[in-house]
Amino acid sequence: MPASFPRLRDHLLDPSGGLVYHLRARLQRGRWAAFHAAVASWLDTWQVVEQELVIVGPNAGYALPDGFLGRFDGIFALEPDPLARRLLARRRDATTLRFDRLDCLRTPDGLAWLAARFPHAAFLFSNVLGQISAPAGDWSTLLRHHLAGRTWASYHDVISTLATPGCRDALTIMEAESLETTLARFWPGQALTVTDHATFHLGGTGPFAYAPWPIAGARWHLVEWVAHRAQDQAQVLTRLPDDACPSATLR
Ligand SMILES: C[S@@+](CC[C@H](N)C(=O)[O-])C[C@H]1O[C@@H](n2cnc3c(N)ncnc32)[C@H](O)[C@@H]1O
Repeated sequence: MPASFPRLRDHLLDPSGGLVYHLRARLQRGRWAAFHAAVASWLDTWQVVEQELVIVGPNAGYALPDGFLGRFDGIFALEPDPLARRLLARRRDATTLRFDRLDCLRTPDGLAWLAARFPHAAFLFSNVLGQISAPAGDWSTLLRHHLAGRTWASYHDVISTLATPGCRDALTIMEAESLETTLARFWPGQALTVTDHATFHLGGTGPFAYAPWPIAGARWHLVEWVAHRAQDQAQVLTRLPDDACPSATLR
């Protein structure tokens, strides 16, 4: 692996994962069930031709339905939390699971490394892009720039708020609409103070799917699902050398 290769650093106390996340996932299992059902239905409709999948930020797979990992001939997980890796590897459907050390989210060229290192894979960003600031510009621009020719999907926080949504059912919207319009579907007639996670639409054209996630206490996140189909390879704007990415695995 070249010295410049961005490498994942183990963490157990990160705000976007770590021990707190494991505790929440266990204690909030009931409250998260409807959100996890929405994720399962998004993944069910996401049928791709690629036989290899890279999951970015799977944690222990709390949100991934049983059997999902078995849909692919090969699965790579990029996950900095060592406890999450241990738990994920113990799943019954993790028979072809491997871990990789690439950190594709920390540097502006991280997604280019991702594309080059896994030339035949589809990518699933698993509730991570709304938790980590883009290392340059925004995630929409980076995805368009580095993964235009690839198949990827993401579910990610769009906003967070302390206001309880009046409508909690997941829904799908076929055409892009404004953030205000989408928020009004879940918080109709409510005055809202939100933290914007700068991921709305992720540069996609739709359809877009949404589900509220009661992450902890009074705090709610609105999570969006976006799927992107590979375009003509000629539209890929950046490439790293073909031999730049020897495979490596975490233990
Ligand atoms: C909000 S959790 C989502 C976990 C899981 N996908 C789910 O839906 O329950 C975000 C995950 O991203 C992981 N993460 C944080 N930084 C990362 C990075 N640079 N690359 C890959 N994963 C990362 C965290 O360890 C954590 O497991």
